[in-house]
Amino acid sequence: MSTILRAEGVKKSYSVDRRKQEVLKGIELEIEKGDFTVIMGSSGAGKSTLLYALSGMDNIDSGKIIFVGEEIENYSPDKMAVFRREHCGFVFQQNNLLDSMSILDNVAAAGMLCTKSKREVLEKAARLFEKVNISKEIQKKFPGQVSGGEAQRAGIVRALINNPDVVFADEPTGSLDYSNGQVVLDLLTDIHKSGQSIIMVTHDIRSAFRGNKVIFVRDGLVGGICDIGEYEESNSERKEKLRDFLEKRGW
Ligand SMILES: Nc1ncnc2c1ncn2[C@@H]1O[C@H](COP(=O)(O)OP(=O)(O)OP(=O)(O)O)[C@@H](O)[C@H]1O
Ligand SMILES: [Mg+2]
Repeated sequence: MSTILRAEGVKKSYSVDRRKQEVLKGIELEIEKGDFTVIMGSSGAGKSTLLYALSGMDNIDSGKIIFVGEEIENYSPDKMAVFRREHCGFVFQQNNLLDSMSILDNVAAAGMLCTKSKREVLEKAARLFEKVNISKEIQKKFPGQVSGGEAQRAGIVRALINNPDVVFADEPTGSLDYSNGQVVLDLLTDIHKSGQSIIMVTHDIRSAFRGNKVIFVRDGLVGGICDIGEYEESNSERKEKLRDFLEKRGW
């Protein structure tokens, strides 16, 4: 196993009305290539802030984020753009689809940034849309014309269209009903099996079971890491281990 992403002493604070709030207080963590890492912790603990920091979407105050051996702070703007476009996929709670394009065009436009062949992009898109139950009729619609769950699933297709090395997902099932949540988790489980790395923030213990490692964030620091092994639908030992880990941390 090799390390794909590492955080060393990462600190970040926000200032509002001249009052400074330290949100990340020296995060140390390592993500192995191919891991499905889950980040949990109470509301306001700094999970989303950490996810943005790890993906280079947001600046940090001090410390280092190292992607495959290189500190992302040292990337040129061009290299940063390539890093985000080709190596990272983002799934956020509010999908950020462009309203002026159909669902299909949103996905195809993202795919064409990395792949020359339109046919290849459309074939890949069709496969992914099928996996998340988005029909051809829905693909023709604009984001404003589909349900929240459909838009969220389309956002996930867009995040995966370029086969990113790392998928960053912030509560990807937060706005979905149970069965659509399962569809999304199944897709993430599939791509984890194919060797891509996933870092997913969730409050939902059932979603967390999909991962193989859970990082608990408490008060801006890593409050523990639990290795639960690979997902199996009916493995009560893993479930017990994670429940116990979370309980001990007051979750
Ligand atoms: N842009 C911002 N400006 C000021 N404060 C912020 C900003 N973003 C987050 N914060 C503060 O930083 C803290 C951590 O926020 P963050 O969104 O990382 O929490 P979280 O763990 O993701 O919580 P949740 O589970 O509710 O999503 C919170 O107290 C929040 O108010
Ligand atoms: Mg959050």
